[in-house]
Amino acid sequence: MKKTLLICMVTAALVCAFALPTLYAVDAPGDMVLKAPAGAKMTKQPVNFSHKGHAALDCKKCHHTWDGAAAVKKCSTEGCHVDTSKKGKKKPESFYSAFHAKSAQSCVGCHKALKKAKAKTGPTKCSACHPKK
Ligand code: HEC
Ligand code: HEC
Ligand code: HEC
Repeated sequence: MKKTLLICMVTAALVCAFALPTLYAVDAPGDMVLKAPAGAKMTKQPVNFSHKGHAALDCKKCHHTWDGAAAVKKCSTEGCHVDTSKKGKKKPESFYSAFHAKSAQSCVGCHKALKKAKAKTGPTKCSACHPKK
């Protein structure tokens, strides 16, 4: 009887240890290659993005419109960063802005802000993210 209870408690502790670190119910993907959406002309090489390498950050730092429960949308989802024209590059709703704007959630925006704060950060030079052809 005592042994059964102990096994139960150990099992419960293990379940908790594995379940607790998951703050949200949506699983984060592994490493990925980011490309411009279908139909857009690409002038640069696709970007290797280590999703796991950014796991220390809260999901919502990047997925800034996510409610924490529904499916995570792509940056280029309808109504979001859809403008892939050269003319619209500087607009907040451009595809370019999602990754380079002076915002807290863009790749370059966040890396630059952290660099300024002398914190551990990622690359800010074009060629560090877009390998030369
Ligand atoms: C440093 C920024 C960053 C952080 C932090 C981050 N993500 Fe992501 N995530 C991305 C980018 C960029 C993509 C690719 C988006 C695209 O394809 O338009 C992505 C894609 C995804 C996708 C796939 C969406 C699709 O339909 O292709 C899921 C699911 C996801 N992230 C979940 C999470 C969860 C859960 C967390 C927190 C545990 C998280 N992300 C944290 C940047 C981030
Ligand atoms: C909210 C802040 C934030 C955003 C947004 C962000 N990063 Fe980072 N990135 C970091 C930090 C912090 C590090 C340093 C992580 C470390 O070395 O521990 C980093 C490191 C990196 C590195 C070098 C280490 C590695 O994981 O390969 C690359 C490359 C990188 N980021 C690419 C990207 C790209 C591409 C995006 C956009 C899709 C992006 N980052 C968005 C904060 C951010
Ligand atoms: C921290 C990583 C990072 C840095 C630094 C960076 N980019 Fe990007 N860039 C991306 C990501 C991610 C995308 C979206 C995926 C894609 O289109 O490859 C992108 C897309 C683009 C696009 C649109 C797609 C295309 O191929 O035409 C252009 C143009 C571009 N970047 C130019 C630049 C230039 C110029 C610089 C330097 C001033 C730069 N990027 C610096 C990550 C970065």
